[in-house]
Amino acid sequence: MNDSFTFKEPATVSLRPSRFADFTGQARVLEKLRIMASAAQRRKEPLNHILLSGPPGLGKTTLAMVLAEEMHASIRVTSGPAIEKAGDLAGMLTGLEYGDVLFIDEIHRLSKTIEEYLYAAMEDFRIDVMIDQGPNARSIRLDIPKFTLIGATTRTGLLTAPLRSRFTLQARLDYYGGEDLSKIIERNAKLLKIDIQGEAAMEIARRSRGTPRVANNLLFFVRDFTQQDPSGTGPSGITLAHAKEALRLLDIDEYGLDEMDKRILEVIGQNYGGGPVGANTIAIAIGEERQTLEEVHEPFLIQEGYLQRTPQGRVLTSKAWQLLGIDRGEKNFF
Ligand SMILES: Nc1ncnc2c1ncn2[C@@H]1O[C@H](COP(=O)(O)OP(=O)(O)OP(=O)(O)O)[C@@H](O)[C@H]1O
Ligand SMILES: [Mg+2]
Repeated sequence: MNDSFTFKEPATVSLRPSRFADFTGQARVLEKLRIMASAAQRRKEPLNHILLSGPPGLGKTTLAMVLAEEMHASIRVTSGPAIEKAGDLAGMLTGLEYGDVLFIDEIHRLSKTIEEYLYAAMEDFRIDVMIDQGPNARSIRLDIPKFTLIGATTRTGLLTAPLRSRFTLQARLDYYGGEDLSKIIERNAKLLKIDIQGEAAMEIARRSRGTPRVANNLLFFVRDFTQQDPSGTGPSGITLAHAKEALRLLDIDEYGLDEMDKRILEVIGQNYGGGPVGANTIAIAIGEERQTLEEVHEPFLIQEGYLQRTPQGRVLTSKAWQLLGIDRGEKNFF
């Protein structure tokens, strides 16, 4: 068999930072988490409960793992929709050990009943479960070792106030700036054992929608593109030309907007005169779930100033009109 088919390295390398020191960006959030972690360690107590929110791919799961690692704690991972019955929750909580981290992803999708059980667990470290039915029904109280709940959600707005208020810290992650993303890309290129020129990393960073997960995916493709280029395996590794050409193949424009982002702007501009138009209508027009529209695409388009959310619906900004290359001419109000 040809030698080149045997793997010399493990097939996957983890790009997930595991310590505070490796976690780039989100300085304001990180500062608070470091303070909480070091104070808790000094007191030899578990961390207080923490809620992490923000759009997908910005590092919520990563931060939960970093926190557990920094606290030398074990972490159990579950998600809102996975906890169906009170028994599931009770089983999980009573299986915890002192200081463990319980990570509940998509915590906004917990059912109302489960949420209420969780209140007592978070506050008083106990859970009252009902056993038996009818006249024999009674509840028994189970004590739970002191643990840390880390909740993650893309939608803080969907969390009930009582649940939200039981988290000592509510931290919101924001889109990353180009510099931070570029640092992440350079670090990951090193982990993937490929050289990358600074300007190539910056080019990928600018087009990553402010999101490390996107940056990593783009880096993977740019790496493949570079490695299949006969001249690409030279000492310069990934050059700006490689990055640009690979990203062109992926249809990612120089502002980082992907196909769906652009479709959203086009639909609002061309079919609805720039809005206002409701989220449901847009979702149907682009053939995408409303949830994906609201959690993945809109936050970025709003942050970058292409879209505004008004009580009447979504409205394009002049920056979006420019991008679409549509001259509004007589449509202007004056
Ligand atoms: N600050 C960071 N520095 C380096 N890499 C990061 C950082 N944040 C995230 N990443 C990378 O981005 C990927 C996505 O991060 P993560 O899974 O933590 O996102 P998330 O916020 O939990 O997303 P989702 O809402 O979809 O669950 C991770 O695999 C990690 O490698
Ligand atoms: Mg996650």
